[in-house]
Amino acid sequence: MQLAILSGSVYGTADLVADEAAIRCREAGLQVVRLHPPRVDELLEAQADAYLLCTSTTGMGELPDTFLPFFHELRDRFPLFTGKPFAVIALGDSAYADTFCQGGEQVRELMLELQAREVIPMLRLDASESVTPELDAGPWLDQLVAALT
Ligand SMILES: Cc1cc2nc3c(=O)[nH]c(=O)nc-3n(C[C@H](O)[C@H](O)[C@H](O)COP(=O)(O)O)c2cc1C
Repeated sequence: MQLAILSGSVYGTADLVADEAAIRCREAGLQVVRLHPPRVDELLEAQADAYLLCTSTTGMGELPDTFLPFFHELRDRFPLFTGKPFAVIALGDSAYADTFCQGGEQVRELMLELQAREVIPMLRLDASESVTPELDAGPWLDQLVAALT
């Protein structure tokens, strides 16, 4: 099982969470391709079996600049991932009540449009609640690994 782990980040937190996820998934025996900033060509060449997308939210519910070009290109080229497993980690701050984790939501919706199959509900990491998101993701990552193996 080859898992592509992609991240988009403004200040580095989402990249850190994705790096930790890569370590944990490798320890669990998965083959991991880590893409950041992600590029569509690289993703398609990797021929991954599954996808973990990890992004923060910036502006008013927008995706980070490091993820936006990938997102637009993926939406334009629209490669179908029919039936392939995916999951999303969304970083945000509940102080932004109206746009909480909207970046992750956008990514999730696009992956569903591309006919990928969400294997576990999106993880929302709230900067108002915790300063150790990379640790908080642990139990959820265990569930992801279980769903993929
Ligand atoms: C200028 C700015 C705008 C933000 N806008 C949102 C937002 O609309 N919705 C949200 O859930 N979080 C928002 N956040 C919170 C970040 O997503 C959160 O702090 C996240 O952990 C940052 O991760 P990063 O270091 O990977 O960028 C914003 C943060 C900043 C600094």
